[in-house]
Amino acid sequence: MPVSLLVTRPLPAAVAARARAEFDATFNPTAASYSPEELIANAEGKEALLISPSDSMNAEMIARLPASVRMVATFSVGYEHIDLAAARARGLAISNTPDVLTDATADIALLLMLSVARRAGEAERVVRAGQWGGWAPSALLGRDVTRKSVGIVGMGRIGRAFAKRARALDMQIHYSNRRRLSPELEQGAIYHADADEMLPLVDFLSLHCPSTPETYKWLNADRIARLKPTAYVINTARGAIVDDAALIAALQDNRLGGAGLDVFDGEPNLNPGYLTLENAVLLPHIGSATIETRDAMGFKALDNLAAFFAGQEAPDRLA
Ligand code: DGY
Repeated sequence: MPVSLLVTRPLPAAVAARARAEFDATFNPTAASYSPEELIANAEGKEALLISPSDSMNAEMIARLPASVRMVATFSVGYEHIDLAAARARGLAISNTPDVLTDATADIALLLMLSVARRAGEAERVVRAGQWGGWAPSALLGRDVTRKSVGIVGMGRIGRAFAKRARALDMQIHYSNRRRLSPELEQGAIYHADADEMLPLVDFLSLHCPSTPETYKWLNADRIARLKPTAYVINTARGAIVDDAALIAALQDNRLGGAGLDVFDGEPNLNPGYLTLENAVLLPHIGSATIETRDAMGFKALDNLAAFFAGQEAPDRLA
């Protein structure tokens, strides 16, 4: 008997085909996320759930899950939407999808860094609005990225992949991390045990740390004030790491060069203050959104489910 699986969001075609072939899969027929009530109702009788970061698995939801559910695989590397302690207490297995989205996400951080410094969003809006008056020596001047300095907050897999890209631009790399990396991983990057000391030194600040209670609104008004007034902030990690009101105020007052953001607190309902800022490049959480990467994430989630229900250790088991 194939394992009964509830899939809460539409999957890439190849992943959906494999889910259908290997599991007794039921799919949410709409593109929208389930409400908590719908999720619980649809999970009835299912042994496994394949969820996304927009499906909260907090302690309350985990307590409400039907007894049939033995494993939840999230289609994401981030797992701040899952209460691991509550899952462990209930004996619920949890897995995520690390590694396979590292390069795609680092690419988006690089894209945002270049786009915001070179004013690509603004420039594209000028062309589309029919306002381009032709080449001009002083029009749409941005800032160089090559040979500038960048501070990376969180030097895990994605932070290091971003550092590799920054190194290709001859950038000076600073980083803060809970632990200092080995020289092989550091590759000349300058470690700051205290991230606050790094802030005044860098032309770009790129956030790559997980969203946890400790990092909630980490980039607040005090830390923004420590940055150079020309500095650019890049966030491809999680919106909750940034105090939106403080960042918007700094961008409005030109106390920062700009911001390139792929993630937002409360997304998709981002703070509307961002929408009118010319010095912000805004993307709708597309860090991992390539066909290759999303296929790999989906296959990884299915691999974890398959291993668990075959009685093996799920390779990316978190709980
Ligand atoms: C993740 O996997 O956590 C990403 O944010 C989704 O792109």
